[in-house]
Amino acid sequence: MESKSLATARRMRALEPSATLAMAARASAMTASGIDVIDLSVGEPDFPTPAHICRAAEEAIRAGKTKYTPAAGIPQLKKAVADDYSRRTGLAITPAQVVVSNGAKHSLHNVFTAVLDEGDEVIVPTPYWVSYAELIKLAGAKPVLLETRIEDDFKLHADALRAAVTPKTRMLLLCSPSNPTGVVYTAAELGALADVAIERDLAVVADEIYDQLVFDGRPSVSFPTLRPGLADRTVVVAGVSKTYSMTGWRIGWTIAPEPLSKAIGNLQSQETSNPCSVSQHAAVAALTGPQECVAEMLRAFEKRRDLVAGRLKAMSGVRIPEIGGAFYAFFDIREPLKRMAGKGIATSMQWSETLLEKHHVALVAGSAFGAEGFVRMSFAASEEKLSAGLDRIAAFLDAG
Ligand SMILES: Cc1ncc(COP(=O)(O)O)c(C=O)c1O
Repeated sequence: MESKSLATARRMRALEPSATLAMAARASAMTASGIDVIDLSVGEPDFPTPAHICRAAEEAIRAGKTKYTPAAGIPQLKKAVADDYSRRTGLAITPAQVVVSNGAKHSLHNVFTAVLDEGDEVIVPTPYWVSYAELIKLAGAKPVLLETRIEDDFKLHADALRAAVTPKTRMLLLCSPSNPTGVVYTAAELGALADVAIERDLAVVADEIYDQLVFDGRPSVSFPTLRPGLADRTVVVAGVSKTYSMTGWRIGWTIAPEPLSKAIGNLQSQETSNPCSVSQHAAVAALTGPQECVAEMLRAFEKRRDLVAGRLKAMSGVRIPEIGGAFYAFFDIREPLKRMAGKGIATSMQWSETLLEKHHVALVAGSAFGAEGFVRMSFAASEEKLSAGLDRIAAFLDAG
């Protein structure tokens, strides 16, 4: 008889694998078999990590900074995060409010685990970044998906938020600039949501991992700056992955009130101990070193945004919201899907799979982000690649 001794726990049964990573894996398997695939599925900058940051890591290794560090991060990095955030936002925060983790994804896991109880509800506006719902469920809580519309640029309105709050609602999750939509809320729009959070006593997790990738010279707005006292109910999640093209170094952080930071630090000390010591030293160099690399990458992303948005808007039946930041175009294919339904292509997943199989472009189906009828294209790729990818997408749409 087959043993059930290693059957997975109940909490694992509802867990979906990351759809973006799955799509990227499929694209790279096709590439390995010799097919010329244009992979626009992954959310990582295509630039190398700047040289001065790599040098800092090399120096850290040579200096023997290769041992355990304090679980919540080395003091220099916590101070660098606090100073950088305070300087950019005007909110004075202390190093004790910072916990450094193995990437912002880990930071989110820590917050949900440290704050949420069984049955608590977390309002997650859709389209949402793939890991939110799964991480909330892992913490035993319930993601309540609240639909936003492309007509509203995928922004959650205060009235819709107010109407969705129940006695079980504990937390609101916000992501601006957004993955997957690239939409950026204005200070006024976030302020209106902050008012509801205060009125209904909600905690807020502000995922600001793309905070420095805001286009058109617009300011980056950090959520807790919007109302007095808002910092007492907000956890800001950010990191070096996107800003400094450091996705593989795995350094992210939370900025939270001190008692919660202490709890998160305790949790981390039992679960993973410190994030990689060498990466932490590299992150100090990223935050305290020259920032021209950030401006350069921003300019490149903005140029690509113009290219991608212009081409997509010109495609028949395709709609996109205003892309104000990050590096994603989340476009509406509901019209093209109607035309293709007779060919057995009725969902965003079928559309993306056919695009990959027949035209060798990897995108991610909107259903992975809780928004059927849309697809996400990352424009963290060279202009040549993007142009070629857009040509193939246009050919696919024309053939439909
Ligand atoms: C919105 C959002 N939050 C968090 C993360 C996680 O970042 P990290 O790579 O630092 O774990 C990502 C990465 O794709 C993201 O897009």
